[in-house]
Amino acid sequence: MKTSIAICPGSFDPVTYGHLDIIERAANMFDKVIVVVADNAAKNYCFTPKERVEMIKKCIPNLKNVEIEHYSGLLADYAAQHNATAIIKGLRAMSDFEYEFQMALTNKKLNPNVETLFLTTATQNMYLSSSMVKQIAAMNGDISSFVPEVIKQDIIDRIVQKNNTK
Ligand code: PNS
Repeated sequence: MKTSIAICPGSFDPVTYGHLDIIERAANMFDKVIVVVADNAAKNYCFTPKERVEMIKKCIPNLKNVEIEHYSGLLADYAAQHNATAIIKGLRAMSDFEYEFQMALTNKKLNPNVETLFLTTATQNMYLSSSMVKQIAAMNGDISSFVPEVIKQDIIDRIVQKNNTK
């Protein structure tokens, strides 16, 4: 029988409850899900690729059909190399749509065998983003409702470290 493989790509700088919800839902839909910690050329990351991978691993120790890895090339190539037939993305507000639509069409052009599927984000995660989490942490705000407890201190420590080296 054919194994259905999907990839969940993103920067995950850091992973939030919004991302985790999409990953869990994708894991219920596909035999195997690979969370691809990828690089967005437009972003300056706060966490290294290894740290971003490790934080996701800490958050989902029990999802047996989910693998997590960093990849620095083109997502369309990664999908082809791993026989993935779907790229799963979460859509929050309409503001996400244009950018996501552009990426979906580009990936389809680069790899016609892969479909991008959009999952609507859960309402409580509608306005949640990694940059918000970093901003709140930088101003000593409480990030407990946005990220799991197991990575909360990792985020606070990095933000404090960054503030101290300014
Ligand atoms: O969480 P983000 O920053 O919105 O994720 C964007 C990401 C990392 C998925 C995107 O930039 C990406 O796919 N990068 C890998 C390189 C690539 O394939 N670029 C062309 C995408 S159309």
